Amino acid sequence: MANFAGLAAAKSGGSQGSGPAPVLVCLQAGNLHSGAFDPFTAATAVSKAHGAWVHVDGAFGLWAAAVPELAGLTAGVERADSWATDAHKSLNVPYDCGVVAVRDAQALRSAMGLNASYLLQDADGSGDPSQRVPELSRRARGVPVWAALKSLGRDGAAGQIPPCHVRCPARGTAQGH
Ligand SMILES: Cc1ncc(COP(=O)(O)O)c(C=O)c1O
Repeated sequence: MANFAGLAAAKSGGSQGSGPAPVLVCLQAGNLHSGAFDPFTAATAVSKAHGAWVHVDGAFGLWAAAVPELAGLTAGVERADSWATDAHKSLNVPYDCGVVAVRDAQALRSAMGLNASYLLQDADGSGDPSQRVPELSRRARGVPVWAALKSLGRDGAAGQIPPCHVRCPARGTAQGH
């Protein structure tokens, strides 16, 4: 569970008195060692009340949302500002197919966009990939992810998930544990 003790202090500049600082709260969907999921609804409410950006690291566990019996583990993740997950983990596609979803497209562009006069700009559309990731040259990682999802379908993708989570000793309350 995230520790919120420093949220108010961080928002007001902490002990340095240097003015408000942006605060990021990173919640976890599927701890690597325990399989634990943070309580997203409650944690997001506290974080938002302090003006924090809420990110969910769901490298393994965000995929539980696709499995009806496990979906309760991820309840409340929809309130977050951003998610990250890895298709090369639970979906079992080749390295390295990380996936990020950011609610505020402009925030993503502001943070990640490479903007220079010699680069094509697409101010209003979906944008060039270089406006969303810290790379210019990159391979088409989306292709194996798309192919896996297309061939598996939702049920097939969900079928990849339970063995990973069922083995975890602290998999949360969705299955009555
Ligand atoms: C919870 C969690 N977040 C992030 C990562 C980083 O993974 P990667 O470097 O493959 O994106 C891992 C790797 O095991 C992880 O378990």
